[in-house]
Amino acid sequence: MSEQAIADRGLADALGAERALQPGGNLRRAWEELLAEARRCTRCHLYKCATQTVFGEGPLNARILFIGEQPGDQEDLAGRPFVGPAGQLFDQALEKAGIDRAETYVTNAVKHFKFVQRGKKRIHDKPNAGEITACRWWQEQERALVKPPVTVALGATAARSLFGKVVTIGKLRGAPHQLADGSECWVTVHPSFLLRMPDEVRRREERARFVEDLILIRKRAARLVA
Ligand code: URA
Repeated sequence: MSEQAIADRGLADALGAERALQPGGNLRRAWEELLAEARRCTRCHLYKCATQTVFGEGPLNARILFIGEQPGDQEDLAGRPFVGPAGQLFDQALEKAGIDRAETYVTNAVKHFKFVQRGKKRIHDKPNAGEITACRWWQEQERALVKPPVTVALGATAARSLFGKVVTIGKLRGAPHQLADGSECWVTVHPSFLLRMPDEVRRREERARFVEDLILIRKRAARLVA
């Protein structure tokens, strides 16, 4: 299948999935227009090598909006965020924390896969400050539509995109913070960080801590909408 065909199918799938979740309405139309625009995005050079834009997904009345770093290899091909190994770990942690992913909106700070080609493999490459800034507009538009009571930055890139500056995850973790638009943001680690940890004991501890963060976030979101 050609890359264009993959991208077109990705758009059709994304729209189909969203329609099934939430029929009709101006909000939905605004989101669909944003999605269509994002899929043509040339704000930075990353669109040139990626298969397609990987936009956010989830109900537009979500209480929690998660922001990751950027799509990985599998997300780039599927056109959906967090469907690869990091996504699986994320799903498991959400389940343990009692959060239904289908009720959350999940997106990324950077919407195109940045990679280095090594033979047949495409190796993840961290987005730089210029790429994060160029893509920031999209997550701002997504948040402006969804208006989640709680936004969650998964890792340093997402936090940088949300706060507009470099922040230290360890310092911000475990408590609410206010964003420039007055909304509430929580910061935690990125699931890939937990995948990469070589030491098994630390890995288990850090995964448990990630779940604890998610439990706090679930409780906080419930309190804010009560
Ligand atoms: N990592 C991310 O930050 N986002 C994805 O969608 C997948 C992996």
